[in-house]
Amino acid sequence: MRSAKYSGPGSAADVISIVETDTPTPGPGEVLLRVGAAGLNPVDVKIRAAAHDFGVIRYTDRPGWDVAGVVAEVGADVADWERGDRVHALAAFPDAAHTLAEYAVVSAADLAPIPSTWSTAQAGAAPLAVLTAWQALDAAGVSDGQRVLVLGGAGGVGHLAIQLAVARGAEVVTTGSPAKHELLRSWGATEVVDYRDGKALAAIAPVDAVIVTVDGTLPPRGAVQQGTSVITITGLTAAQSAQLSDWGATPVQRILVHADGAELTEIATLAEAGKVTVHLDSSFPLDQLAAAEERVETGRATGKVAVVVDRAI
Ligand SMILES: NC(=O)c1ccc[n+]([C@@H]2O[C@H](COP(=O)([O-])OP(=O)(O)OC[C@H]3O[C@@H](n4cnc5c(N)ncnc54)[C@H](OP(=O)(O)O)[C@@H]3O)[C@@H](O)[C@H]2O)c1
Repeated sequence: MRSAKYSGPGSAADVISIVETDTPTPGPGEVLLRVGAAGLNPVDVKIRAAAHDFGVIRYTDRPGWDVAGVVAEVGADVADWERGDRVHALAAFPDAAHTLAEYAVVSAADLAPIPSTWSTAQAGAAPLAVLTAWQALDAAGVSDGQRVLVLGGAGGVGHLAIQLAVARGAEVVTTGSPAKHELLRSWGATEVVDYRDGKALAAIAPVDAVIVTVDGTLPPRGAVQQGTSVITITGLTAAQSAQLSDWGATPVQRILVHADGAELTEIATLAEAGKVTVHLDSSFPLDQLAAAEERVETGRATGKVAVVVDRAI
């Protein structure tokens, strides 16, 4: 089968190639997927550029964690899935999963049905980002009637966090550049602020929860009140965390997404109901993976970047 491979640390154009590898065999509790599409995330490009582990996130020269496809073979002890099922997953994260290939072995526990409202490319691109958004909202305890600030609403995680927060009954305020404001509103945000406009940022009224998706960015002072939960998926310095505590926020939680087929299945139900969609910034065939990674690396993608492995799926 054809698989993506990194030859070492370096730029996408220098180190990515598509090579022939053996098709893997599913073990107990696993299925073999014929891959239709896979997603890319900033972590893929950071890992490729550095060629070493990031904490618990495993470097591998055979990349890919997001995947959508069709079950081709079922291993022993798999009761819930059968040949022909259309499924998607965040596979094995933070361990290696090798999904940027024509076939991939995935644990049955990581799988969820592809919602009928999503294309294969959308389903392949979504899992890591949508599970991050879901788990961040859970960590913040976001519920009906709350007011939530999503810092960085136009990115892969941000655009899904807006929609999932709205699906939970929250009112969402978010940040994005002006060219993206209409899209941010279409995902359900009721207040949209240009992140380069200090006055508009300062005018954001207090919120119950903040989801930070932009590296090193603090919520503005006025948005934080006593008890505001702040969840970050990137980094905040100790000084920034202390500043937030001084303003009354509960201790900042930094989360790392984990694979979870049951949560992805709950999200599929929302997608079937038309409550969450995946905005595709762009799609690239597998043999243009380097160009796809370069697009993610710009930090300017709107929604998700997909890699289409087999258009027939
Ligand atoms: N902890 C975890 O488990 C976890 C999981 C997923 C992702 N992450 C991390 O979270 C970060 C975001 O991931 P992602 O996939 O959402 O990234 P992404 O899709 O690459 O984000 C790109 C978007 O960010 C927007 N943006 C850039 N600077 C901004 C700013 N100052 N304020 C508001 N928006 C801004 C850009 O809009 P403009 O073009 O308009 O600037 C663009 O639409 C990355 O650092 C990633 O590694 C962590």
